[in-house]
Amino acid sequence: MKAQSDIKTLMMDGKQVSARSEETLLQVARENNIFVPTLCHMDGLSDVGACRLCLVEVKGSNKLAAACVTKVQEGMEVTVNSPRLEEYRRTILEFFFTERNHICSVCVSNGHCELQWLAMKLGVTHVRLPYLHPHLEVDATHPRFVADHNRCILCSRCVRVCDEIEGAHTWDFTARGFQSRVITDMNDPWGNSDSCTGCGKCVHVCPTGALTEKGKSVAEMSKRQQFLPYLTLMREERE
Ligand code: SF4
Ligand code: SF4
Ligand code: FES
Repeated sequence: MKAQSDIKTLMMDGKQVSARSEETLLQVARENNIFVPTLCHMDGLSDVGACRLCLVEVKGSNKLAAACVTKVQEGMEVTVNSPRLEEYRRTILEFFFTERNHICSVCVSNGHCELQWLAMKLGVTHVRLPYLHPHLEVDATHPRFVADHNRCILCSRCVRVCDEIEGAHTWDFTARGFQSRVITDMNDPWGNSDSCTGCGKCVHVCPTGALTEKGKSVAEMSKRQQFLPYLTLMREERE
C-alpha cells in the first residue's frame, strides 16, 4: 500500500483526481477515462514524447507539456481537452500527412492505421499545408516484412520495442529533422541485418503502414497486438 505522501491530488479538465507520484499525466487521464490522443506512446515501452499529440496545458506554465512524459505534481491544474489543444492536435496530424506520402486508398494499412483513425476522430477533413512529396525508398529485402518509409511518422515504437523488449536493437534513427528516418543495423537493407531476429514485434507496434508483412494488399494489414499486455507486465516486473 502506498504511503499517503505518494498520493498527489490534481485537477484535470475541471475534475479532482488523485494519482501516484510516479504516474504521468497520460496515465492519470486514461485512468479517469479522459481521452488523450497519442501515437508514439505504447504501454510497456519507455516514453519519449516524440509525436507531441498528447500536449496538455498546465496552469502557470507558458509551455504546453507532453502528457506522456510529464509526471504529476501536487495541486496541478491540467487542461487535456480544449478547442485550442484540439486545433494544435489537428495541425500536428496535418504535418504528419504532408511530411511523407500518405495515400490511404492504396495503403496496406488503410482502415487499420492509428494515424488515419486519429485524423478521423479529431476531424482532420483536409490539409492546409503544402505536401512535401519526398522520394523515399521501400525496403522489401526482408523475407517476411516490408519497410515503407513513405508511411513512417518517426514515432520510434519500432526502435524501442526492438531494443527494450526483443533486445536486438536492430532499429535506430539516422540524420535529423526532415532528413531523419529509421534504419536497420548500420543503414543496411533490412534483409541483410545480422541482428534482426524476425520476431515481427516492430511490425505489430508500428502505428501506420510503414512496417508491414509481405503479401498484404490494400487494407489487408491489421496489426496483431495481443502480446502488448505482456510488454506492460514485463516492464512493471523490471521496475
Ligand atoms: S499509413 Fe495510415 S495514414 Fe498513411 S497512407 Fe497508410 S492508412 Fe493512410
Ligand atoms: S517504422 Fe513505424 S514504428 Fe517505426 S518509427 Fe516509423 S511509424 Fe514508428
Ligand atoms: S504520446 Fe506523448 S508525445 Fe507522443
